[in-house]
Amino acid sequence: MSSEKNILLKIETLKEKIREHNYRYYVLDEPIISDEQYDKLFAELITLEKENPKLITADSPTQKVGGQPLDKFKKYRHREMMLGLQNVYNTDELSEFYLRWQNTVGSDFNVIGEPKFDGLAVELVYEEGVLVMAATRGDGETGEEVTQNVKTIRSVPLKLRGHFPKLLEARGEIILMKDDFKKLNADRAGNGEPLFANPRNAAAGSIRQLDPCIAARRKLDLFCHSRGKIEGTKITSQSELLQAFREWGLRTNPLARKLKTTSEIQSYFEEIEQKRESLPYEIDGVVLKVDSFRHQEELGTVARSPRWAVAYKFKAHEGITELLDIAFSVGRTGVITPVAMLKPVVVGGVEVRRAGLHNEDQLKALDLRIGDTVVVKRAGDVIPEVQSVIVQKRTGREKTVQFPRNCPVCDGKVVREPGEAAHRCINMACPAQIVKSLKHFASKRAMNIEGLGERWIEIFTQNHLIQHFSDIYDLDAKRLLKLERQGETSTEKLLAAIERSKQTTLDRFIYALGVPFVGERTAELLARHFGSLEKFLNASEEELRHAEEVGAKVAASIRQFTSNKKNLKEIDLLLQKGIQLETGEPKSPQTLKGKTFVITGTLPTLSRDQAES
Ligand code: IVH
Repeated sequence: MSSEKNILLKIETLKEKIREHNYRYYVLDEPIISDEQYDKLFAELITLEKENPKLITADSPTQKVGGQPLDKFKKYRHREMMLGLQNVYNTDELSEFYLRWQNTVGSDFNVIGEPKFDGLAVELVYEEGVLVMAATRGDGETGEEVTQNVKTIRSVPLKLRGHFPKLLEARGEIILMKDDFKKLNADRAGNGEPLFANPRNAAAGSIRQLDPCIAARRKLDLFCHSRGKIEGTKITSQSELLQAFREWGLRTNPLARKLKTTSEIQSYFEEIEQKRESLPYEIDGVVLKVDSFRHQEELGTVARSPRWAVAYKFKAHEGITELLDIAFSVGRTGVITPVAMLKPVVVGGVEVRRAGLHNEDQLKALDLRIGDTVVVKRAGDVIPEVQSVIVQKRTGREKTVQFPRNCPVCDGKVVREPGEAAHRCINMACPAQIVKSLKHFASKRAMNIEGLGERWIEIFTQNHLIQHFSDIYDLDAKRLLKLERQGETSTEKLLAAIERSKQTTLDRFIYALGVPFVGERTAELLARHFGSLEKFLNASEEELRHAEEVGAKVAASIRQFTSNKKNLKEIDLLLQKGIQLETGEPKSPQTLKGKTFVITGTLPTLSRDQAES
């Protein structure tokens, strides 16, 4: 065999292996190799393809990432309309549907119950088993082509397996897992970027990014739940369709179930509602579908929704209360976030006093006025949100709120950069920003100065003991003990923690500096890429962009930071005070990587936070 043939064979074998492992992981939920072994196979394939670019095919698993940014999305007309669902909220409304089903198809029929995913509908088009197009639902007739972004979703196969049909339009829901949503928002908060209101908005925002690298980083997921056109295979029911999806390598949801009577449907609904909070993704009800496609045809469609399916929605976690005030809080990078201060109200078993409002656009869209009666919604364990205003309840005494033109803390100028949703206070000496940057610097994942939290930082800054990061390393017992409420033991502890923090790693240090848009992960990648603080500080924008996951915006932000003399002087001072940076190696041994631990109860020698860290 010639060596070229040999390589081709090797590549094909690797591709097959990787596809098989993807299938086991995402569809069967039964992986048989570790993540490391999988990564190794993947890296091997990348290397071989790099050496032999002619042998790269569009359906190779490596082609999931790496497309070029688009200027705009193309419109896509669905071959078959993507329908919506009618909602019901109680057993009576459900019974009406059920009776109609019975009256049309007779009493011998099955119903398939599935969770109703709170995500974003997409259609995946496979021709001869290859993913050729993916589009959003849009208005049901015409959506947008988001193929590049959908390809980056790990659970979406680029190629189907088994006896797939000639043409398959699979429809499903793109979701973001609750955990990934929390991490994404934590990172955004750290970077001074506006937060997403809920996982659905985050998923939708990610799919509508023109640069596929962004979608690739967001860890989106997908469950297939319905079909458009299918040619070249005979499938006669929803249950067969779900089964076939799995055989073709498409991910379906394991909670789908065949049901018969209304009481079975009711118990299924209650069971799924019970599971709702503990599921790793958000759902807002169950969808009930008449199983047989023949029955579905008999039932037909009215006004953009099928008669053969219905969404039975959970009661929303909503409450009605009064908006007492709107506060404006200033973040570490100066971003000003409006916060709704509410008359306390219990929503889904939890007392809510504050709700996020994100930015000026949302404030305007809601047309909120102080004194308004508002609907507050809690979704899962996500931050409560002001959903809407009950305009009918207005008395005329409500007061409109202006977004502040000056910083509510330092009175400095507030600007909104073109193209950004956030307002920022641009005064670098703003006390709110100083306290929050110091808090970030000292935080567990940054310099890890135990005991130096916001309360002490506020006291220290108000007493002019610290203003810059390096001032922390000048604190001494004499000065601390002069402060009210500062005892000897806590002083000793704090000073010891400050001393310990001097031994740190390059990635933690970069993260601690609080450069806008440099979160923990970016800091880690930068540390790995540059290997030393000096190289990092001297890197040009161009050189910074060579680091993994660093785009133009992040590179510009870093360069702005590292070319500022004041910042360099501060870094120099920190090093003079004895900060030592271990470089090269990741910050801890990786033996626990990828494992999840839940720590509860009390431990004899450690606090829970210590054990977690
Ligand atoms: S079936 C006509 N199944 O809900 C059939 N849809 O209001 C509609 N959705 O845009 C699709 N979970 O994207 C179906 N298990 C599920 C679903 C589901 C969520 C979405 C779907 C559609 C919307 C309809």
